[in-house]
Amino acid sequence: MIDQQTIAKIMDAAQIVDVVSDFVTLKKRGVNYLGLCPFHNEKTPSFTVSPAKGIFKCFGCGKGGNSVHFIMEHEQLSYADALRFLAKKYHIEIIEKEQTDEEKLAQSERESLFAVNDYAVKYFIDNLNDTRDGQAIGLSYFRERGFKDEIIKKFQLGYSLNEFSAFSDKAIKNGYNAELLEKLGLSIRRENDNSLFDRFRGRVMFPVHSISGKVVAFGGRILKKDEKTAKYLNSPESSIYHKSNELYGLYFAKQFIVKHDRCILVEGYADVISMHQAGIENVVASSGTSLTLPQIRLIRRFTPNITVIYDGDAAGIKASIRGIDLLLEEGMNIKVLLLPDGQDPDNYAQTHNASDFIEFIKTHQVDFIHFKTNLLLEEAGKDPIKKAELIGDLVKSMSLISDSIIRSVYVKECADLLEVDEKILHNAINKLRRKYREDKQKADFVTTNNAAEKTEVEIKVDLPRTTVMPYDAEEKNILYFLVRYAGEVLYEKTENEITVAKYIVEELDCDHIIFQNPLHALMLEEMRKHIDDKSFNSSVFYTNYPNCDVSSLAADLMTDKYMESKIFLKHISDEKKRELYKQQEFEEWLSRSVPRVILEMKNKLVLEQLKEARERLKSNFTPEAMKKYAQLDALKNEISNAKELGERVVIK
Ligand code: CTP
Ligand code: MN
Repeated sequence: MIDQQTIAKIMDAAQIVDVVSDFVTLKKRGVNYLGLCPFHNEKTPSFTVSPAKGIFKCFGCGKGGNSVHFIMEHEQLSYADALRFLAKKYHIEIIEKEQTDEEKLAQSERESLFAVNDYAVKYFIDNLNDTRDGQAIGLSYFRERGFKDEIIKKFQLGYSLNEFSAFSDKAIKNGYNAELLEKLGLSIRRENDNSLFDRFRGRVMFPVHSISGKVVAFGGRILKKDEKTAKYLNSPESSIYHKSNELYGLYFAKQFIVKHDRCILVEGYADVISMHQAGIENVVASSGTSLTLPQIRLIRRFTPNITVIYDGDAAGIKASIRGIDLLLEEGMNIKVLLLPDGQDPDNYAQTHNASDFIEFIKTHQVDFIHFKTNLLLEEAGKDPIKKAELIGDLVKSMSLISDSIIRSVYVKECADLLEVDEKILHNAINKLRRKYREDKQKADFVTTNNAAEKTEVEIKVDLPRTTVMPYDAEEKNILYFLVRYAGEVLYEKTENEITVAKYIVEELDCDHIIFQNPLHALMLEEMRKHIDDKSFNSSVFYTNYPNCDVSSLAADLMTDKYMESKIFLKHISDEKKRELYKQQEFEEWLSRSVPRVILEMKNKLVLEQLKEARERLKSNFTPEAMKKYAQLDALKNEISNAKELGERVVIK
């Protein structure tokens, strides 16, 4: 957990132009900067950065926010990890919040393990570049395989010397703890004399990066063909490495997976690296085993679309097809691509350029169910028993697809291919789905109350993200002024100044208006806490707020275009407003606009009540109901007059 002070320090250091410039080429345009949006494909730049406000906004895809949001989106990190990313960039020490002793111990062991791996990565890289064997054996092996220096560097490839304990000795000499070396499996303890020797010897080294780029394990490949030794030697499981939770290459691929809305899945380290080198970067590898549930969920964080590339041989394909049912179950859309005779993604990428490869993928990938049907059909031939088995197998796969439309498209296709009645397939599928539902209900019953959520640094608000609340527009208009101009003086009352914030809060309170959208309500609550603070800078406060939804909305409200559709602000740009400010007209604009947004809100409330009153009147005509209706109607007129004059109206 990161404390508030550290967050403030990070926000201070992470100036938006500097942060964005690491990833986007920006050109100065007036007071802002302009570039090509990294979050969607565009040819003319609509990605704007405002150094004054500390925010970015793409007018093409709508993404916007502060430096942390940019990193969250670009690096696909959580809020806390994005802060850590920036802290690292600006050399700010992160002071994590109080932890229990146990947590501290576990945390410090994790950190130590990462530190050891960091050391090992550097050691193997140094071997590769600076030792005679490294260059003559390791580097020349990579080069023979067509890996360019740049990609070797990017994937942090290295070399382990063919010596008994070169690494262990050096690590110990440099003060690394023997127990940790053992825990990571980098060193192995000899039983007879308790000495350490190296797990990886005479191998080219592939570090495995976690989703946030930390090295969690290594794969070491032998250099010569040898029937007796396994081609790859991998790190054992440790407290920082669970093979089934990692996908090789994800750290480098994630932003491209989001950008292309598709993840390409291959089998090996070499496939990933060659494809990245060829310029196809949304690629990850399952490292030779079939996909696990955690790996699938990892991919689904970035996209529901996946293309699995197989390298031709039928036995291998059949083995990995089992894993794909799991993908269907998790709601992924799966395509399958078979490479031509005996080629794998690695050599295909080495012999074709990116656009040819991409074109090949586009034209040759087929839907998984279709693929599986054909494959099994070929195998079953004319054997009726095999064919019945095959139908059962396909029915199971299709029953896992939750989208009923997609499901029935497949059923139709399969029925045609298999020459069976569609109805038979549908019945079998429905029966299976009923069974899943019953099983799931039982399982849910057992697992409720078992959800221990991880605590995040973020302040949580439960947001009905997709549903639009009835007063959203009105609430946002009011927040626009709170975020931008909270501290501006609207007018002076005898003894004290009435700021925009005070005016708004008083107006809302006197009519007991509460914001219905919980996000908006939270923002208003925060304003109350700072209402008497003269040094309070609302726009900095909200755009840097440690809840991503709050700071994103604030960033949105800080962009010029936000209000352009609103009549009372139409055609007034920020610069213009600043100009007006100079001419004292800004105050006039503000003193008209703030009461106006309040009145818009009250107007909407009254219209709602009026509608209800009318309904009541229709169903049950009483003198009281009539009186109420008349009162509301008068109020409505009062508000519409007041809007012209900028007067205050109390509705309750
Ligand atoms: N693998 C492994 N142990 C082995 C063989 C394979 O862990 N003995 C894993 C590795 O992660 C490897 C993946 O399975 O990357 C796929 O195997 P393969 O296609 O044989 O490896 P490539 O990465 O393609 O390696 P190369 O092209 O160098 O043979
Ligand atoms: Mn290979």
